[in-house]
Amino acid sequence: MMKRHINEIIKGDALTVLKTFNSDFIDVGVTSPPYNKQEKHKGWLVKNVKYDSYKDIKSEEEYEEEQINVLNEIFRITKEGGSFFYNHKTRWEKGTMIHPMKWLLKTKWTIRQEIIWDRMIAANIRGWRFWQVDERIYWLYKPIRNNKIGKELESKNALLTSIWRFSPESGQKNTHPAPFPITLPVRIITSILNDNDGIVLDPYCGSGTTLVAAKLLNKKFIGIDISEEYIQHAKQRLQNASFEKKAIQEELQKHIVQKTFKQRKQNGEFTGRHRNNYKINVANTKPQDKQLKLV
Ligand SMILES: C[S@@+](CC[C@H](N)C(=O)[O-])C[C@H]1O[C@@H](n2cnc3c(N)ncnc32)[C@H](O)[C@@H]1O
Repeated sequence: MMKRHINEIIKGDALTVLKTFNSDFIDVGVTSPPYNKQEKHKGWLVKNVKYDSYKDIKSEEEYEEEQINVLNEIFRITKEGGSFFYNHKTRWEKGTMIHPMKWLLKTKWTIRQEIIWDRMIAANIRGWRFWQVDERIYWLYKPIRNNKIGKELESKNALLTSIWRFSPESGQKNTHPAPFPITLPVRIITSILNDNDGIVLDPYCGSGTTLVAAKLLNKKFIGIDISEEYIQHAKQRLQNASFEKKAIQEELQKHIVQKTFKQRKQNGEFTGRHRNNYKINVANTKPQDKQLKLV
């Protein structure tokens, strides 16, 4: 294990840094890489997203090859049974759709799920296609002895659906050009690690959202980013992490169920209700109950 990097952010190119790590020690990772947005055209995908020390203008072949190499290094350093959550979006180049699955299928990972992140808002409204407000989050899994199915999620986490609806982080709260909302890594880390200890990785950590989530959930973390400015920002956020507790609490409340599917079925109660239809009353709820009253 790379003890010296635990709870640290390393400055450098993700692939180069990952290659220096030992194998099999990461429990879960979350990341959003630069999307190769071709910012030479002012970033035709998300025009205002310009990184501090990185020009997002690789050829598509070069970008995909780099992503495959990065993902394979992450596979190597992840424990068997570990997971990596890879946020990306579908893009178009001269009218041809480029889907992340194209390079994900060339990696060593087992693709466990495709989650749709409904951001509800996005920049660049042009009429070439319907307003694209979705991104994808790929749950990648490193099998234990070739068992590609792996352990089930606890039902309190599995009750969340495969469509995640929350808006992107506001530019007023975070000056990084493309941070994701803290809800995203909180949902992932909580669902995968529960109360267990673990090491969380973000190889393109930007303003440190994944790392702050890991810290507030009492996990260890390792971040990598190429930009000194973003690393300083992330370090400041980590120091002031307690100010972000509220956002964490809001997400954690969604991981509490009063009755499991089995119990509701046994009682002849409705089993198909969408989770958002529940009104949750958290008052008087003891954390150790891990239960909420539904009103
Ligand atoms: C989409 S942003 C990540 C934002 C992050 N999830 C957050 O919440 O702030 C991508 C990040 O990748 C970094 N980056 C770009 N190329 C890199 C490389 N080769 N190695 C490491 N980091 C890189 C950029 O500086 C940027 O911060």
